[in-house]
Amino acid sequence: MSLKTFSCRVLCKLLKHEVVASKKTLSARDAAAGSPGRSSARGYYNSGKVSQPRPGKAAHVRVVDLRSDTVTKPGPAMRQAMAAAEVGDDVMREDPSVNELQEIAAEMFQMEAALFVPTGTMSNLIAVMVHCRERGDEMIVGDLSHLHIYEQGGSAQLAGVHATTVDNLPDGSFDLEQLESKIRHGYPDPHYPRSRLICVENTHNIQGGRVLPLTFLQEVRALADRYGLSVHMDGARVMNAAVAMGLPPSIILQHTHTVRSGFPGGNLTGWTQRLHNPAVRCRKALGGGMRQAGILAAAGKLSLLEMVERLEEDHHNAKTFAQALLECDPAVFAVDMATVETNILRFRIQEPTLSPSEFCARMAEVGEGEEAALGQGIQVLMYPHFSNTVRAVWHLGISPEDTQLAIQKMQLVASQHIKEKVRAQ
Ligand SMILES: Cc1ncc(COP(=O)(O)O)c(C=O)c1O
Repeated sequence: MSLKTFSCRVLCKLLKHEVVASKKTLSARDAAAGSPGRSSARGYYNSGKVSQPRPGKAAHVRVVDLRSDTVTKPGPAMRQAMAAAEVGDDVMREDPSVNELQEIAAEMFQMEAALFVPTGTMSNLIAVMVHCRERGDEMIVGDLSHLHIYEQGGSAQLAGVHATTVDNLPDGSFDLEQLESKIRHGYPDPHYPRSRLICVENTHNIQGGRVLPLTFLQEVRALADRYGLSVHMDGARVMNAAVAMGLPPSIILQHTHTVRSGFPGGNLTGWTQRLHNPAVRCRKALGGGMRQAGILAAAGKLSLLEMVERLEEDHHNAKTFAQALLECDPAVFAVDMATVETNILRFRIQEPTLSPSEFCARMAEVGEGEEAALGQGIQVLMYPHFSNTVRAVWHLGISPEDTQLAIQKMQLVASQHIKEKVRAQ
């Protein structure tokens, strides 16, 4: 299928648009789930550690892994495409599969060029490096952005780029007045760094998969143009944003100079031709020039051409779970349905005796008698998240049936906890 046919098809479609309590002590659970006592006030530095499914006691155990969409594994069709991929030396720009993927991505993004990059972190860093070319240049980033929180300050460590932050609002956007106030006007006064770049994140990970409004992007771009700055989008989940809005990604990306978008096994970064060669140089310097990367590019091609539409299923499953949280009896959870826009769900536990880490630990273990109550053991993996919330993420590996299993387990954990509480009173 040509990309044009694909784009039309996608565009048309888009536009149509009890269990006995576990005998484990609380402290043991906390050790497994990341102690809430060590969280900072906003808590996002403590990412929690419910990391690996622990072996359950039940004979039949189902694992529903909602930790992140990064855990997704390639299915048989993708593995076949990877095995059959034609490859070459991509550092010499001779890998046909990589070259094809880059062309597909550039057309999809409606950008002049795209580059295969092994990871999202490297993609963001390359984008920062091509926009902030002088040591001490400054970028403006959201205080809750992945780039600022979770990428080890690589832009300072490796690129000599200074960051200043603006507050991320609950929908992932910024207050534009605050943004404008962060732009430096003193250059070339030797006291100040030079503002070069504004970074946005779409969808916004920490804020729960929120989709940035187009008007916000338009206004950010207008501000950037007024002051001669560039706009980079960390679009790890920009395809989720496109699907949620019923728009092709290029409509979103028209307001940015560069974007990075992820797929299983790699990343693509899009930009203008002028930025392409400097970006290729940065990628090589960072050790991201891969030789026979076509095997991974084949996975990227399949996800771009055939798997974007299915993201709608993840959004639907996330909403189904969110609704079940609201309907849970006992009423233990709080969630604002209007904020459940894509595949990432953040919710609050309004029962003060149940902490997010305790809840996540219980969801992840198979309690005694669970098999008798539910017909099987169900281990549901989620992370305690910042600001006393829990985060769950839907992806290719989670079916509607898995979502129902997670709902059963959530109801069981909630009712069990309330029974224990009443017994203890
Ligand atoms: C919004 C966002 N940006 C960047 C990254 C980093 O990607 P990677 O783990 O491929 O370096 C992630 C990873 O989940 C992400 O969610």
